[in-house]
Amino acid sequence: MTSVAIGSESQQRCASCGSVYADTDPSAKCNSCGGLLEVVHPAPALRGAELRAVFASRRAGGSVNTSGVWRYHELVLPNAGDTIVSHPEGNTPLLSRDRVSAWAGIANLLLKHEGHNPTGSFKDRGMTVGVTQARRIGARAVACASTGNTSASLAAYAAQAGIPALVFVPAGQVALGKLTQSLAYGARTLLVKGDFDVCLSLVQQASDRLGIYLLNSINPFRIEGQKTIALEALEQLGWDAPDWLVLPAGNLGNTAAFGKALREALDLGLITRVPRIAAIQADGASPFAQSFRDGFATRPKVKADTVATAIKIGDPASFDRAVQTIRFTNGVVTSVSDTEILDAKAVVDAAGVGCEPASAASVAGVKRLVTEGTIRATDRVVAVLTGHLLKDPGALLRYHQELSPPPQFANPPIEIEASIEAVERVLSGQNLTGYWLLVLVTGYPSPRDAMSLPRVSVTNNQFQ
Ligand code: F0G
Repeated sequence: MTSVAIGSESQQRCASCGSVYADTDPSAKCNSCGGLLEVVHPAPALRGAELRAVFASRRAGGSVNTSGVWRYHELVLPNAGDTIVSHPEGNTPLLSRDRVSAWAGIANLLLKHEGHNPTGSFKDRGMTVGVTQARRIGARAVACASTGNTSASLAAYAAQAGIPALVFVPAGQVALGKLTQSLAYGARTLLVKGDFDVCLSLVQQASDRLGIYLLNSINPFRIEGQKTIALEALEQLGWDAPDWLVLPAGNLGNTAAFGKALREALDLGLITRVPRIAAIQADGASPFAQSFRDGFATRPKVKADTVATAIKIGDPASFDRAVQTIRFTNGVVTSVSDTEILDAKAVVDAAGVGCEPASAASVAGVKRLVTEGTIRATDRVVAVLTGHLLKDPGALLRYHQELSPPPQFANPPIEIEASIEAVERVLSGQNLTGYWLLVLVTGYPSPRDAMSLPRVSVTNNQFQ
């Protein structure tokens, strides 16, 4: 199958049987075989260095083109015209933090922080395109199932576009920050008595029956927007591809998007080398990692269970297209325990960066793959932090305040009388918690020799 559209309009093509649909066809899946659709665009007029220069020039343009999504509109949705619904989004930082690098065991680790998007997650990149497409086709309402971030993003962009939004989320399993966003932005929010996989099946039935435009990541226009995470990271690195791009994996839309972005970037001469993708799941929600271990011979479904509720998914919708990503990039899939996720999160948080639990799976995955020797200590690695720290305050409070015994990096608050003596007592160490003792003794809450950071000591109750 060619990767460009014939003619001057983008097209939708079935990834399974090759059927072609207009770019304005609202079908959620292929009408012939039920396969997932993908969007192909006309070949851009420019390639390679010239196209790279156009992308760079738009950064300062002041129009919608400064968006970290629409800057790449030739590869996203070239004919969106004046229908674009943009906050704007993207232009997220690539961060380097010695403490996180030292913990993960790799010097050259960069964190692509997608929590800096308008609603605090990478979903805004897909949703600006999805809701733009909804407007292009005149959708009267939009819907999604979600573990919380997609619904927050859909709610915000639908509100901006003035289109009613309906979201299906698993009751009792959505982080507080996310649920409150969907309410605040005005989406009709259905708390479904079931898990995410049940919600996804229900929203597909509802959108079929009620004619509501479906904006889960099975929608190929969402994928077009999410490609820009990889494109922007490559651009930030001067189009000199890193050895690895590492991301958390749940429903696998993002893994699929990264593969498509890299394939197109290579075809268009934007890059000359393809980074390997590492997709990281939680042990309790790891059907893709299990399948990888048997060479993708099977497609297991699991009853998902993990503290990282964003990726608590047992039957990922974009499974097949994510397999293509892993094959194309010579990638790997692995899973990490909830303890590894929460410890990675505590390290990312305590470095002043912060992320939600699912995002920390990527950093935990880097550490795991370095330990196993899959990622070499000299490799250049970009790990994607998919969501903001404030998305899941409940997980934070449990980790720092409620768990017994306290986890490795717990930093519980200390309640005191309102007196200077009480403050002094705390600082003199009588009430020092495990975390602070560790900070003060080691300079950082992780093995001293791994950190090469200045040591902090306490002498006569003074910090030095
Ligand atoms: N990280 C975060 C913070 C997420 O919210 C999600 C997915 C992922 C990683 C995984 O991405 O599904 O493309 O493999 N959240 C979806 C949601 C399922 O409904 O917000 P994926």
